[in-house]
Amino acid sequence: MTDVHKPGSSQLIADRLQADPRVQQAEELLKSALLDAQAEIQGVQPADPQLRTDYQNLLERLSEARGGAPYFPYLASGIGKGPWVELADGSIKLDFITGIGVHGLGHSHPRLLQAGLSAALCDTVMQGNLQQHRPSLLVAERLLQLANTHGAALEHCLLTTSGAMANENALKIAFHHRAPADRILALDDCFAGRTLATAQITDRPQYRIGLPTAITVDFIPPEDREHSQASQQRSLDALDKLLKRHPGKYAALWLELVAGEGGYYPGCTEYFRKLIHRVKQDNVLVIFDEVQTFGRLSEPYAFQHFGLDEHAELVTVGKITQLCATLYKPELKPNGPLLSQTFTAASSAIAASLATLDELESTNCFGEAGRNNELHAYFAHQLAALSKDYPGKISGPFGCGMMIALTPGDGSAEYAKNLVHALFDAGLMSFVAGSSPARVRFLPPPAVTEKQHVDLAIEIMRKVLPSMNP
Ligand SMILES: Cc1ncc(COP(=O)(O)O)c(C=O)c1O
Repeated sequence: MTDVHKPGSSQLIADRLQADPRVQQAEELLKSALLDAQAEIQGVQPADPQLRTDYQNLLERLSEARGGAPYFPYLASGIGKGPWVELADGSIKLDFITGIGVHGLGHSHPRLLQAGLSAALCDTVMQGNLQQHRPSLLVAERLLQLANTHGAALEHCLLTTSGAMANENALKIAFHHRAPADRILALDDCFAGRTLATAQITDRPQYRIGLPTAITVDFIPPEDREHSQASQQRSLDALDKLLKRHPGKYAALWLELVAGEGGYYPGCTEYFRKLIHRVKQDNVLVIFDEVQTFGRLSEPYAFQHFGLDEHAELVTVGKITQLCATLYKPELKPNGPLLSQTFTAASSAIAASLATLDELESTNCFGEAGRNNELHAYFAHQLAALSKDYPGKISGPFGCGMMIALTPGDGSAEYAKNLVHALFDAGLMSFVAGSSPARVRFLPPPAVTEKQHVDLAIEIMRKVLPSMNP
């Protein structure tokens, strides 16, 4: 079933179950049923008029149950193929947002079916810190091994259930080792999650309405998009001023190496090195938040893409990894029971994580000439042509790797939202990012997106853009 279990001759009952020929046969049958069903998915398809009323009812019930309407009228039917997904109204969409960067293998990938089956044969649905299974160990080791390929020396990996929680754990480690420092440094427009503490680092006042200040965060302006020396100096000066104003009070500098929710701004190695060099003079830790970037650039980790391996001491991942984790160096191991929670991840999420990490590598997503860079270049080229053809309606592209964005019209939040919804109605899923300007972003599934999918996305944009008015 999966490479985490030994063959049928094992002394363990569990391994013999996984290798039982009936299980193999069931897997083959399910896979062939899936492939037959997937053959019906051919491309964008409008909703089935007969399902419209039922779908509307489901969406209303969903809005009621969750206490607000979902961003899109999206309710999955339960099947897809690559970047294609069928919704419960019978429509088929080209999913270039993938749950904000989660479904790296797209929809209904056979490897995920296999992973889900091996997890279904596990004794428990959930894994937790008190009782873990062998794949929990394998996934932690795998994330560490990937992190250390170019010289980083991360030794510990704590699994958890959300990006925000992975970030909370990183914050706890940082404060613990730098007590009594009680402040964090971050760049403007940063996003770190929505817990009480991470909402302070997330540079969106509207996400903190009514919330008490859990930790104090000081923001510095980032370099500009051209990486100009002047902007780097302005940023460093602001950093220097804060470090001098609050000596010994900063536990960590928070860094997203490509600003994600902030609007798809990749930083540059020179700038990051300067920032890190300056904070290290004051013994401040550096946290790389890779919850959105992992798996989408030329290397699995963004700190590898930017050549910052020697500075990786506290790193968080999530989204595409199917589970979330905090990786850290041995000297940052907490002295005391600081970190734990009931759940680490679902057995199926752990199996899916191992399968996803395998597939990202085996489909050559990484490397200078890897898929992530190649597809970026292709998509970016097409978007650049599009923005020439529709001046005033869109500009760009922005971002890097499999994190791509455009600025719609006047860059207003309203126009970006209207464009995202118009694209959704026409069959292409995207999402907003940033605020001034607001952007429309794409997070295509790296392992399964082909150039032909990009062509179709562009074709849909060409149909929608003429009717858009900023
Ligand atoms: C950079 C970054 N950090 C943290 C988070 C929070 O992750 P989660 O929504 O899984 O809590 C996100 C989510 O978008 C993110 O992009």
